[in-house]
Amino acid sequence: MPRTYLVTGAASGIGFATTQYLRDRDHRVITLDLHDADVVADLATADGRAAAVAGVIDHAGGALDAVIACAGTAVMTGLVMRVNYFGTIALLEGVRPLLATSDSPRVVVISSIGVVFTAIDAAVEACLASDEEAAAAAAETNPILAYPSSKRALARWVRRTAPTSDWAGAGIALNAIGPGTVETPMIQELLDDPAGLAMIDSGVPMPLSGHAQPGQIAPVLAFLTSEENTLITGQVLFVDGGADALIRGDDIW
Ligand SMILES: NC(=O)c1ccc[n+]([C@@H]2O[C@H](COP(=O)([O-])OP(=O)(O)OC[C@H]3O[C@@H](n4cnc5c(N)ncnc54)[C@H](O)[C@@H]3O)[C@@H](O)[C@H]2O)c1
Repeated sequence: MPRTYLVTGAASGIGFATTQYLRDRDHRVITLDLHDADVVADLATADGRAAAVAGVIDHAGGALDAVIACAGTAVMTGLVMRVNYFGTIALLEGVRPLLATSDSPRVVVISSIGVVFTAIDAAVEACLASDEEAAAAAAETNPILAYPSSKRALARWVRRTAPTSDWAGAGIALNAIGPGTVETPMIQELLDDPAGLAMIDSGVPMPLSGHAQPGQIAPVLAFLTSEENTLITGQVLFVDGGADALIRGDDIW
């Protein structure tokens, strides 16, 4: 049955491929991005987030069944916390009341295989304490770890939020996926640099598949946000060709 989706970050990469995948299956997709979208808004700022929520509610016309939150950045500054964590959550909280009116509401956010590596604890804790300025400042202390810190905070927010009355209690399934290396514009510069490529491939081995294409992520997102997913919530599902199993081994299950 056709559903109404919101896909953020829909102008590029995983969000773009997912929008195509859903539209090919006759779903209605409201797109959100900095450009080339139904709702053009900047999730880095309070004004942008308010405009994003208002724009989505306006486009939805009273119906919203699922959100796939792909918008993100890998810049090595505090901005990464503002977009990847605070922007994502402000949008989800803003549209949650409308989502809750759906018969089968679902949400997926995009975390990362990066959560299994080191993070800046102070940045993660500041996120979970809703202190945006402290999180952005903490991220600046070790810029290379800013991105995985934002994704770890997002994964932990999903774990603690999914089972609550506002989410599971309202029938909303809320999950994260943790992609491995996906060939998108976000990491193209690294992939094009032999040293960058070697670093990625030694850090994130993907024995099942090699690097993913965005179109391989789309069906996973579509399932988690479908009516058929009636049981999975609060999970961080690695979509990584075996990287997590190799890196963390059998102590985690
Ligand atoms: N590519 C990978 O290897 C990989 C791995 C793990 C996780 N991810 C995550 O997957 C998601 C999608 O990334 P991608 O690889 O498709 O990258 P991408 O750069 O192709 O797409 C990201 C999109 O987010 C949008 N965006 C960035 N900042 C924004 C803002 N402030 N407000 C609104 N939109 C904004 C961009 O305009 C872009 O269209 C991201 O959250 C990323 O962190 C990617």
